[in-house]
Amino acid sequence: MDAAHRFLFVLGSTRVGGNSERLARAAATHLPPGATARWERLIDDPLPPFFDTRHTTGYAAPGGAGLRWVEATLAATDLVIVTPVNWYSVAWPVKLYLDHMSGWMRVPELAFAKTMAGRSLWAVVVDSDDEAAGTAAPVVDALRRTADYLDMRWRGALLGHANRPGEIAADQAALAAATTFFAA
Ligand SMILES: Cc1cc2nc3c(=O)[nH]c(=O)nc-3n(C[C@H](O)[C@H](O)[C@H](O)COP(=O)(O)O)c2cc1C
Repeated sequence: MDAAHRFLFVLGSTRVGGNSERLARAAATHLPPGATARWERLIDDPLPPFFDTRHTTGYAAPGGAGLRWVEATLAATDLVIVTPVNWYSVAWPVKLYLDHMSGWMRVPELAFAKTMAGRSLWAVVVDSDDEAAGTAAPVVDALRRTADYLDMRWRGALLGHANRPGEIAADQAALAAATTFFAA
């Protein structure tokens, strides 16, 4: 049994080097000893639109971007969803990625649900509100419930508050929390 953590950072923002990515990269400088990190940006390898065919045709094994994303996901012991808050929700590329999991779970040869069960789910979430507003709460709740549904271990969310790219550098509380987030 390989005990080393293999982190997959799934970058969900539609802007490169945005606040959520910067906060995740700050946190990733403090991974557990021996851990590896892989970074993938959802908009760099776009998933196709998702269709609910559960009760009609079912799902074929994925190809193309779907295959690359499911293989990357299955290889991770620690899945980190990195997303801005967009309309009190995850960013749309993250929602699309999560929707595709519904299909991957139904392709027997992927063994998706069995493989992901027991693995860790983390989140790095940035909104442009202040902490007291609790704007990230619906995102955190959705991801925590997603972990529960997948029988994954919910490891919590690192929250930051910023608007324009780079503003996260001024969120001292978030950057302080980032130093211990993955080590805890
Ligand atoms: C379409 C859209 C919707 C947004 N909705 C919210 C929101 O509901 N609450 C909030 O606090 N900020 C919202 N924001 C602001 C972003 O969360 C904020 O700018 C964040 O720093 C972006 O992170 P990023 O640079 O990683 O993309 C929204 C931004 C966009 C573009």
